[in-house]
Amino acid sequence: MSLTTKPLALNMNKPQRMAKPSGTSPLAFVLEEHSLRGKDITGIENLSISELNLILDVAAKLKENKFDETQTLFGKGQTLAMLFEKPSLRTRVTFEAGMTQLGGHAIYLEGKLGERESVNDIGKNLERWVDGIMARTFEHETVVALAANANVPVINGLSNKEHPCQALADFQTLIEHKGNIKGLKMAYVGDANNVSNSLLLLAASLGTDFAMACPHKYEPQASIWMKALELAKISGANLTLVEDPKLAVEGADAVYTDVWTSMGQEAEAKEREKIFAPYQLNGNLLKHAKEDALVMHCLPAHRGLEITDEVIDGPNSVVFDQAENRLHAQKAIMALVL
Ligand code: CP
Ligand code: NVA
Repeated sequence: MSLTTKPLALNMNKPQRMAKPSGTSPLAFVLEEHSLRGKDITGIENLSISELNLILDVAAKLKENKFDETQTLFGKGQTLAMLFEKPSLRTRVTFEAGMTQLGGHAIYLEGKLGERESVNDIGKNLERWVDGIMARTFEHETVVALAANANVPVINGLSNKEHPCQALADFQTLIEHKGNIKGLKMAYVGDANNVSNSLLLLAASLGTDFAMACPHKYEPQASIWMKALELAKISGANLTLVEDPKLAVEGADAVYTDVWTSMGQEAEAKEREKIFAPYQLNGNLLKHAKEDALVMHCLPAHRGLEITDEVIDGPNSVVFDQAENRLHAQKAIMALVL
């Protein structure tokens, strides 16, 4: 189903579950019809404010009930195919454990897509066997092509453009620690990448102020920034982009950083280390944020480069809460879309 023709409301062209849901869980309300059922989660950019809030709400409820054995929302046989072009710890384990906990199971596939057979054909095969696809790809277009060719929901597990599951888990963490996120200030320091794109769009959608500090030539793409500004007009979020990391971090409620060299950019690593050195999240930079500011990182961290041990292991760090919430946020997504 292509993004352009896909209606925001219930997607009639997507088949419903292959296996019947058990529906016995106190969380069975997520089985009710809503606009996310059957929808591809290719990026935050394709989700409405009510869909984003529904995912965050269900994620919180799943976490609250995490020891409840009746979390099995799926009937036996519900299957997710997980396609990985790049390595992973968190995404792989949380999607697989999440499917198991919901009563289904996941199949792990590794390798570059489009080499042995076309991406379109992979999508057309998988839709005949499984109820959903999670894909971690180099090119965002690969996720979009899978979504266009597979009549089951496709979830982006990281592409070069977005990392929507990460951003949703991060905002779940922000809500847990800070309560109401409207009007909070999140500072993002470093490379404008897949993670910062999804955070920026989510902050702009939900009304969280977002201040970015990036070196010249490493800022977000104009199309992403313009889209975020449009969303911010509605939500009231204040978006700023500066070069000086101290300016972005000033008075922040959360300070976020990510690697300077993302997967696929390894050839630029040495050059990037020099350019990004002033953007390290260390004790001196953190002093400019509020005293109780959260320290956030999607992990894996390159300790001593974008973040120091002192900060990532310090009292303000919530990086492992973020990692835990990948599980709950993705279970919410899967329970809602599959
Ligand atoms: N944050 C994240 O996506 O981690 P992995 O690369 O280990 O999946
Ligand atoms: N920006 C990083 C995130 C890893 C989870 C990358 O794409 O490698």
